[in-house]
Amino acid sequence: MKIIVVGTGYVGLVHAAVCSEYGHEVYAYDNDLKKLEAFSSGDAEKIEYYVNEPGLVGIIKEMSGKYLFFSSDLESIFEGCDVVFLCLPTPPNPNGSSNLVFYNAAAEQIAEVAAARKDKRRVVFVNKSTVPIGTARHIEKIMKDHEVENFGVASNPEFLAEGTAVTQARKPDRLAVGADHEEDFKILRRVYSQFVHHVRIKYIETTPETAEAIKYVANTMLLTYISFWNGVGAKLGETCSNVNIDDLRLGVTADDRISTWGSFVSNGAGGSCFGKDIASLIYQLRKVNVSTKMLEASYEVNEYQKIYLVERAVTESNFKFNNKSIAVLGLAFKKHTNDMRDASSIKVIESLLGKGVAKIKAYDPLANESAKVEFSPSKNILFEKIEYYDTAREAIEDTDALFVSSDCEEFRGLSRTIEETVQPPYLIMDGRRMIPDYLDLVEKKYNYLAVGSMSMPCQKNHDL
Ligand code: UDX
Repeated sequence: MKIIVVGTGYVGLVHAAVCSEYGHEVYAYDNDLKKLEAFSSGDAEKIEYYVNEPGLVGIIKEMSGKYLFFSSDLESIFEGCDVVFLCLPTPPNPNGSSNLVFYNAAAEQIAEVAAARKDKRRVVFVNKSTVPIGTARHIEKIMKDHEVENFGVASNPEFLAEGTAVTQARKPDRLAVGADHEEDFKILRRVYSQFVHHVRIKYIETTPETAEAIKYVANTMLLTYISFWNGVGAKLGETCSNVNIDDLRLGVTADDRISTWGSFVSNGAGGSCFGKDIASLIYQLRKVNVSTKMLEASYEVNEYQKIYLVERAVTESNFKFNNKSIAVLGLAFKKHTNDMRDASSIKVIESLLGKGVAKIKAYDPLANESAKVEFSPSKNILFEKIEYYDTAREAIEDTDALFVSSDCEEFRGLSRTIEETVQPPYLIMDGRRMIPDYLDLVEKKYNYLAVGSMSMPCQKNHDL
């Protein structure tokens, strides 16, 4: 098949690469020339500056010029194409709705080119990014308004998680394809014929609206599940003496029906999808007068979770943040990524600065550079108080307290670094329960405050 992928972000680039690997002729289109130059260069560092996914550079290097092409000229690549995948950003508006400015602009541009093409073979326009229910229908209208002939529209949402996107794209657990006509289903079956050669896959053919809804329900359910653990399980561990959250989790998830994923209590879930998608679904449901209490609760629990350890430090550990130096470890929204989108560290750092800390010493194994962009002093003058370090040890040195805000594996060894670097009473706020031997630290008179546990003070009412 001849495939065009419009938009070379994380979804588009991974999809284009994996489709080319499965033998399709793929043209990745973008209007950002710098990005295209980086991808065409085959240089790992340049490619990973934009999209850093294990395995991706290898495919791009191998397929470029054979099955994978990068272009900024839609007209020249359009003739003879069977499928156009739209993989464009849909950032949230302040009211929670999805901003479709990029989508609409791209659809208009594609419609003009499609209307002018000489060959009139069937072409299917497929939404791959998460878009509000009804967007495929909206794309159909744009195409009709431009008098595009012989086309179909479809929704085929992406379910990739960052860090494992290539593996998941090669062997998806499901493919949801929503279309209106058998000929369009047939074209998409041919696109995916190589992908479905493994037994686990669920290939779902449905309406475009259902496919769009599948993505929203999946993502909001995942976030709700995390919020359930953070809002219920973690709270039991924090308020009932002798309720151990780790054992509680093991006991509950021993039931095959209850997933282990999501049961790891945290200072909130972040990333490019969860917050944006739940806000958008709330907006979509409110528009049709449906009560959104449940979704609002999951959203609120998640947002509160991001900062509440800082509040607990004040109320439970009697910690005074004013003029203190605080180490913040783990800046990206999760391990193995430099992605800062909706990272819990943003709320943590804002809340620490709001409490008048003198300095924040920050460290992330991958995200220091992207964090510098996120925390640019041009956005907030207080961000000048953030210093970045190359190791956790350097960040911890000469601080009064520490906040662990992501699940990087190396943080599991922090207790030794802490003991060697800072003296008790020193406050450790563990947003991810990353320090397995915390009891040793408590014994040595460090203050330990973790999501899911009661505060473990070295000395009651000690004024830090
Ligand atoms: C998510 C969905 O998993 C994916 O299906 C969807 O397409 C996009 O959004 P991703 O954003 O890459 O993928 O991150 P994911 O690994 O799901 O983690 C999201 C957040 O939840 C992270 O901040 C993570 O640390 C947090 N999390 C995850 C928890 O707090 N506890 C857990 O048990 C699991």
